Amino acid sequence: MAGYDSQRATSMPNNLESFFMPFTANRQFKKAPRMLVGAQDMHYVAVDGRRILDGTAGLWCVNAGHARAPIVKAVQEQVARLDYAPNFQMGHPLPFELASRLATMAPGNLDHVFFANSGSEAVDTALKIAIAYHRARGEGHRTRLIGRERGYHGVGFGGISVGGISSKRKQFGALLPGVDHLPHTYSLAHQAFTRGQPEWGAHLADDLERLCALHDPSTIAAVIVEPVAGSTGVLVPPRGYLERLRQICTKHGILLIFDEVITGFGRLGKGFGAEYFGVVPDMITCAKGITNGTIPMGAVLLAKDIYDAFMSGPENVIELFHGYTYSGHPVACAAALATLDLYAEEDLFGRSTALHDYWADAAHSLKGLPHVIDVRNLGMVAGIELEPLPGKPTARAYDAFVKCFEKGVLIRYTADIIALSPPLIAGKPHIDEIFGTLGDVLKAAA
Ligand SMILES: Cc1ncc(COP(=O)(O)O)c(C=O)c1O
Repeated sequence: MAGYDSQRATSMPNNLESFFMPFTANRQFKKAPRMLVGAQDMHYVAVDGRRILDGTAGLWCVNAGHARAPIVKAVQEQVARLDYAPNFQMGHPLPFELASRLATMAPGNLDHVFFANSGSEAVDTALKIAIAYHRARGEGHRTRLIGRERGYHGVGFGGISVGGISSKRKQFGALLPGVDHLPHTYSLAHQAFTRGQPEWGAHLADDLERLCALHDPSTIAAVIVEPVAGSTGVLVPPRGYLERLRQICTKHGILLIFDEVITGFGRLGKGFGAEYFGVVPDMITCAKGITNGTIPMGAVLLAKDIYDAFMSGPENVIELFHGYTYSGHPVACAAALATLDLYAEEDLFGRSTALHDYWADAAHSLKGLPHVIDVRNLGMVAGIELEPLPGKPTARAYDAFVKCFEKGVLIRYTADIIALSPPLIAGKPHIDEIFGTLGDVLKAAA
């Protein structure tokens, strides 16, 4: 009988060949697979039955911990009630309710929401809205997009064009025209082993004035940055940097987009990084923690004036020719609403904030261990940068990743930087285990 085969879902597949795995060294993985078959709260269960402590909230998304009962129940009930309904010229209740909820959480006047299914789609949506918004206001000459070196904005053509990580761009041709980049904000010499936001680097925002002088501000639609650059290896914004970007964008009529796919939903102890930093952008892109990683969903939160700019012209004409089959999917909305309830009921953002100092102390205790050249942290995020093995970039961090997994802790690495971001239900013993295991692995590898 067709249905769910729990045996199949919990045992090693006979054939690993057909799945072309994303962002994975396929041949290396398939020779020695690391297979996860279950999860609860702070732990994964590996195919051999071992419990693995999740030091990364999956991929920065499972902020409330794994397989939480209220979210599971919401998904089960909604899929049985209304599995799918379109939102093109039709509607169903949950995306309206979720959008209102997100609008109350969002800073400033960001009170409208466009739904997508991933961070990448949220980013491409925000970039398209920015260009279309200026056009709707009679400024169709504003088409340029400004990203930042080392930025990560997903894998759509828009996202990789404004993104600034060359490995994620170079295979894919010329990308979007009319894109420029700010310099990244990291300097080992000026910032190594800073706790929290570095003092050095706010002046790097002034480079936006240089780009305005070069291109003329009237050609620039939007600037997009991650408040804390995550995927490139945890780059914390210098004090005053985001504030200065905000000032320059406002001065020149340029929209400021914060890509909060990682920093949203409690990673910095607030609903959004914008609130943490006290800087209100014109749009926020988010995904991941919005549904606790349970069901794919992304969203763009946008300011009222942006929405209003589209609400002109005849009422029978579609205002924005953009949308996905699954924009505002009922099951994803149910998961998101249950997730937001859980964050609030358990005060997970406040609870994790109370551990930020403990987390920072634990991260910085790795200073002085072999090959550790920097430790950076903010909120429930830490980056540990290792000196690359001569001629073998990434080998040292990959080795640490594999050894930690063997010892029962999931960490993440990008180049030679280890990134840590546990679920926000983590307690002190979990934090001790994450850094203790990583510390032992780094010492043993010396
Ligand atoms: C800041 C940022 N934007 C966009 C994305 C892309 O999200 P997704 O993988 O859901 O498309 C990510 C993913 O890590 C991200 O960190």
